[in-house]
Amino acid sequence: MKYLVTSALPYANAELHLGHVLEIVQADAWVRHKKLQGHDALYFCASDTHGTPIMLKAKEQRIAPEDIVNDMKIKHEHTFKKFNVNLSNFHSTHSDESKDLVYELYNKISANKYIYSKDIQQLFDDQENIFLADRFVKGGCPKCKADDQYGDACERCGTTYDALDLLDPISTLSNTKPSVKTSKHYFFSLSVFKDFLKSNIDNFSKQDPVKHKLNEWLDGDLNDWDISRDKPYFGFLIPGEEDKYIYVWLDAPVGYLSSIKNWCEQNDIDYDQLMNTEDAKLMHFIGKDIMYFHLLFWPATLHAAQLKQLEEVHVHGFMTIEGEKMSKSRGNFVLADDALSYAEADFYRYYICSKLSNDISDIDFSLEDFVQKVNSDLVGKFINIVSRTIKFVHKIGNGKIIYSSSKLNESFAGRYEQIIAFTDNREYSKAIKEIMSIADEINAYISEQEPWNLAKEGKNDECLDVCSEAVHVFQSLNTLLHPFMPEITKRVQELLNQTDLKYSNTFKPNIDEINEYSHIIKRLDIKEVNKLVDSL
Ligand code: 2FM
Ligand code: ZN
Repeated sequence: MKYLVTSALPYANAELHLGHVLEIVQADAWVRHKKLQGHDALYFCASDTHGTPIMLKAKEQRIAPEDIVNDMKIKHEHTFKKFNVNLSNFHSTHSDESKDLVYELYNKISANKYIYSKDIQQLFDDQENIFLADRFVKGGCPKCKADDQYGDACERCGTTYDALDLLDPISTLSNTKPSVKTSKHYFFSLSVFKDFLKSNIDNFSKQDPVKHKLNEWLDGDLNDWDISRDKPYFGFLIPGEEDKYIYVWLDAPVGYLSSIKNWCEQNDIDYDQLMNTEDAKLMHFIGKDIMYFHLLFWPATLHAAQLKQLEEVHVHGFMTIEGEKMSKSRGNFVLADDALSYAEADFYRYYICSKLSNDISDIDFSLEDFVQKVNSDLVGKFINIVSRTIKFVHKIGNGKIIYSSSKLNESFAGRYEQIIAFTDNREYSKAIKEIMSIADEINAYISEQEPWNLAKEGKNDECLDVCSEAVHVFQSLNTLLHPFMPEITKRVQELLNQTDLKYSNTFKPNIDEINEYSHIIKRLDIKEVNKLVDSL
């Protein structure tokens, strides 16, 4: 099986924050897990470049939008690397591949008669002389009446709507009340695909709250989708038009495909052949705010163009900081790169994964809890196993583990299977809880057996036996933790001379001679980590 995994394409107008880290770590962990299972798994992402914000930013800075997106692409890619994310490719929606694939999609949908045009009324900022993109108008949600909602969708109730329906709209560009103006727009006949979407809910999502939301949307009115925007805009022109552009949300998910295509070109692989393979599965990891786009618009457009359909969309909740929604105005907005000044990447990865389940509830980042979890789980439980045993393996066994002493490890086989199943199902918190519970049991075993006393009493064989049993289990735990903490587990891999990390080796360890214990991780100091918040 070949898994083509993606996470949502970050907008090219801002650096990544901790919320992005949650998603890229969730996706990366799953890709690494699939590899440990022996599958071929690849992770693709790209910068989401088009739309009004980049156009406005470029205008304001008097530079080309291309310069902004190229700069940000480098920054994004760098942040992925710093968080130990193993990307196969990071591309851009402003690329030749994207342009070709977007037009292929558009033309096929259009040839199949699922695109039509009609005049519509829209909010217009007379002062700035621009039709107002959804993100540049705010007002009350027409459904739940929540204040201060953007023009496309309500952050509180998830409904998508027309900006014209906003209650008391206001342009965020000039702070003036917009007027209403008419313009020709292009529409995708989403409503035609209602039955198709309805009958595929269970294929596209395995998460009950997501399926519930989809059913709710599909049981209501499914409006056709406005897929064009007037100039000024940064994007691809609508075929046959000179001042109308393809809406960014039609071309953004095509960026997943263009990243794959670009990777194919670099690796001499036939893209069409890859995409026509049944065995290649397209898996998207996204946040709950963009479910509508990925679970309704995207599969419907793929279906309309008769292109390869996605396999599954996995949805996660938002990250809150100390119980609060992250936002610049609240002053709790943590940039991903900044976080790395206070703790290493794998600590953040571990903490996030230890809280991730397969539902879509928000997960909270609390500094005290973070420090406590890292110190207690990773230092106090996991690494503690080897810091208490390796010295005896060296003193008594010249660094060689005894092979016959792996009964304890074998006794955990069923629990390892369960941990792997949890990870597969993206129930990382359950997997990690179980790993730490085994680590607890091994530490208790070491405390009971007291290898230090056995060594003192000259019971060398027994001492080596106990330590070997513990190290065998430890190497298995290291493999099971690898998706969540690739860097730390690599250090451990070197310590143990673990040749190949794969799940099959948890049942049949492949270590022999191990190195002397040397420092693997450092405890976190709450005073240091608190500086993260002080720096905001
Ligand atoms: O919500 C966002 O940040 C979008 N840039 C995600 C796009 S995902 C995909 F469709 F490209
Ligand atoms: Zn609402």
